[in-house]
Amino acid sequence: MIKPPDYVLGIQPYVPGKPIEELERELGIANSIKLASNENPVGPSPKALEAIKNSLSDINRYPDGAGYYLKKALAEKLSASESICEDEIILGNGSNELLDIAVRTCMQAGDEAVMAVPSFVVYSMAVQGVGGKSIQIPLKDYTHDLKAMADAVTPRTKMIFIANPNNPTGTINRKYEFARMMEEIPNNILVVLDEAYYEYVSDPDYADSMKHLHAEGNVLILRTFSKIYGLAGLRIGYGVAKKEILNDMNRLREPFNTNSIAQRAAIAALKDSEHVSHSRNINEAGKTYLYGELASLGVKYVPTEANFLYMPVEKAMALYESLMKMGVIIRPMGPHAIRVTIGLPEENKRFIEAFKAVVGS
Ligand SMILES: Cc1ncc(COP(=O)(O)O)c(C=O)c1O
Repeated sequence: MIKPPDYVLGIQPYVPGKPIEELERELGIANSIKLASNENPVGPSPKALEAIKNSLSDINRYPDGAGYYLKKALAEKLSASESICEDEIILGNGSNELLDIAVRTCMQAGDEAVMAVPSFVVYSMAVQGVGGKSIQIPLKDYTHDLKAMADAVTPRTKMIFIANPNNPTGTINRKYEFARMMEEIPNNILVVLDEAYYEYVSDPDYADSMKHLHAEGNVLILRTFSKIYGLAGLRIGYGVAKKEILNDMNRLREPFNTNSIAQRAAIAALKDSEHVSHSRNINEAGKTYLYGELASLGVKYVPTEANFLYMPVEKAMALYESLMKMGVIIRPMGPHAIRVTIGLPEENKRFIEAFKAVVGS
């Protein structure tokens, strides 16, 4: 009988949602909309689609394991603010994979990692996967409490996770508070700055993570092509850190962890600034519409810097189920909150109409 270690048995497996077609069949509904996974409702860039078509004929070949051209394109783009070279970039099968590699690189059983709660669930799952301990610090005003997180550091701490913007609340940490925290953190602790929603942020005081890359050196910045770039299904993300950190992570990275189609699509998406700004504008317009409608209903929401909205509610599960029956799929976040991805104008309207109907009844 196979007996995995207790720390593996302690992990709650991620429960994926059912395919939308299956859900519709079960509920006897059609035309449902998915506002549950913070994807880009606009779709992928047409330029990325073209690159995908053009890369199909050589999928008999292994991909470029070093991701040479994508790293080159990223280095060029990122160097607009701080000079970043190719060997300060690592590619991942989604930024999720890089979180996992970082944890396996830095931690062993009994080590601690500090993170916020609620935040992205993958952090604690990855830490538990190596028998580490997650020290979970409650959010303050729905935002990472960086002071309390720094105070939670002990000699056993190996990593700190900061989702900026935070998932599920959409809040950010600003320059000055992040800089102050970095001053306090010993440089043998890796600070993971998860910026999956970076491109959506409009606040001018948003923490400038790249500045800390060379200043303190103990940061790993994670970004992804799954959100504004609209390539979630291809699984491609990247990390930026000093090359010594990446050399160690590369020991644990599978040689061909990102596929050739994803690499080429990502290069094309990166260059399609029109698609990015259109996606950002759609998101901003959706945000304004939702804020207005929710305010007129007297419903509380947390102002967001990302492409989703966190709403404290009384009965999240009941609300989720009622909305689903009306073909609007959102994400319950525990018993007292929901998270709704900002969609296309007609999708946002459908959410508001369904929400009114459910709450009104
Ligand atoms: C905060 C945060 N980090 C990382 C990810 C993972 O993104 P991916 O693995 O698709 O790059 C997500 C996805 O929802 C997220 O919300």
